[in-house]
Amino acid sequence: MTLRIFVPRDAAAIAVGADEVATALRAAVKKAGVQAEIVRNGSRGMLWLEPLVEIEREGVRYGFGPVAPGDVEGLVKAGILQGKPVAEIKHPAAIGVVDDHPYMKRQTRLTFARCGVTDPVSLEDYKAHDGYKGLERALALKPIEIVDEVAKSGLRGRGGAGFPTGIKWKTVHDTAGPQKYIVCNADEGDSGTFADRMIMEGDPFLLVEGMTIAGIAVGATRGYIYLRSEYPHAAIALNAAIAAAKKAGYLGPSVAGSSHAFELEVRIGAGAYVCGEETSLLESLEGKRGLVRAKPPLPAHKGLFDKPTVINNVLSLCAVPFILSEGAKAYADYGMGRSRGTMPIQLAGNLKFGGLFETAFGITLGELIDDIGGGTLSGRPVKAVQVGGPLGAYFPRGLFDTPFDYEAFAARDGLIGHAGVVVFDETANMAKQARFAFEFCSIESCGKCTPCRIGSTRGRETMDKVMAGENTSQNLAVIEDLCNTMKFGSLCALGGFTPYPVMSALTHFPEDFGRPARKLAEAAE
Ligand SMILES: Cc1cc2nc3c(=O)[nH]c(=O)nc-3n(C[C@H](O)[C@H](O)[C@H](O)COP(=O)(O)O)c2cc1C
Ligand code: SF4
Repeated sequence: MTLRIFVPRDAAAIAVGADEVATALRAAVKKAGVQAEIVRNGSRGMLWLEPLVEIEREGVRYGFGPVAPGDVEGLVKAGILQGKPVAEIKHPAAIGVVDDHPYMKRQTRLTFARCGVTDPVSLEDYKAHDGYKGLERALALKPIEIVDEVAKSGLRGRGGAGFPTGIKWKTVHDTAGPQKYIVCNADEGDSGTFADRMIMEGDPFLLVEGMTIAGIAVGATRGYIYLRSEYPHAAIALNAAIAAAKKAGYLGPSVAGSSHAFELEVRIGAGAYVCGEETSLLESLEGKRGLVRAKPPLPAHKGLFDKPTVINNVLSLCAVPFILSEGAKAYADYGMGRSRGTMPIQLAGNLKFGGLFETAFGITLGELIDDIGGGTLSGRPVKAVQVGGPLGAYFPRGLFDTPFDYEAFAARDGLIGHAGVVVFDETANMAKQARFAFEFCSIESCGKCTPCRIGSTRGRETMDKVMAGENTSQNLAVIEDLCNTMKFGSLCALGGFTPYPVMSALTHFPEDFGRPARKLAEAAE
């Protein structure tokens, strides 16, 4: 029987040498004269173990990681290519059965179920692992029943705002128009986030299927994936999946032999953070400068080329096939409060075990950092955690009991956003981070509204004065005032949410701003 060896084609794995490891393994296989197939899979999401090489024996996958090209000879000597039971191979990189690894075992992988398991560009493999079951069920339903199913699942937008996906789809479904569109927001600009990239590279058919279901549900016959320009590997995987789906009749004038048409294309983004904001994205997709549009009209009424448009994040669309195949309840059974289902959380920054961790809503921030993430890589105490990208708040240890839930984070002046979690140890200076928030906003601002365009620059300048110890209390009063103006006067969330990192840094870490430190009891509030 042919031995199957897996080496990820994921960009994070390639960045640490996965291609070279695959080449070394190919040479070793040839030299040993054994029958072996090297599959370039997606990442399992355990980034500290990349490149993670897996050997399959009798349907069980054993892992070795991280593997450098120079380790291949030793692995071959240890017996990975021979009939020897893999469990008996003693090698410093051996991690045992991959599915039994505690990091994997603790997850609930609904969206990432196939990621790292299958050959991402094989339609056959996708279908062999329950792929296209959601579409099959969708085709047996009326469009409005598909919309209802998504609404009942409780799915909320995973791109940042957490808006109910079912309501958005219903609006587009109910809006008449000769042409409607599905746009996937794959601009993924938040710091510390990579889930969109990982799923597009590791299971691209899932996004194709999710968008096709969305098209059938709302009556859209065309879809566009607006892909971040820094994601060339995702573009290759998506284009391969689209071509294969077209060839097999899953895309085109008659989706899976039905009366529904759906065409899909990848468009490369313009490389600005603000192009991830949905209306700015639509402008960019139309070939214009990424300038935010005033709302109303909503994109659901007048979106791409002024036509009714569903615009959803990659993860929102990727949750849909499971919801359709397993039913709304199976998805809604996970989670807490109004945060239903699972969230692919991205653990990043100064952490021992950074990676992708998909779990039901409700897990606390502390469990994620201390337990799953293993604390800081530097070994120093955690000082702050920024959740939700560059516009998210900094949480101190005193708030580690916050459950991962949209409302719980909002109640503590924070946000989940796209679920990027970036950890900072005690060496971080939070005044510097506040300055950075203003600076980032000033660089990325589209310039359409004054509070953001001017406020961000004045904020950065004022932070420079605070950091130089110049009239600290007056300048901090200016910062607070500016934050209020930006929060309530900005047209979009770039200017409107920049006050979150600034004010959270100032509230929780006043000593870094030249103010007296908070007492322990206050800090826990
Ligand atoms: C400055 C800014 C950047 C954004 N970047 C992204 C992004 O990269 N990806 C994304 O899905 N949503 C992003 N959003 C949110 C989108 O505007 C929008 O809410 C989202 O695409 C809707 O999809 P969802 O309902 O599936 O989350 C951004 C918003 C702002 C204000
Ligand atoms: S808040 Fe900033 S990015 Fe948003 S519209 Fe105003 S100027 Fe543009």
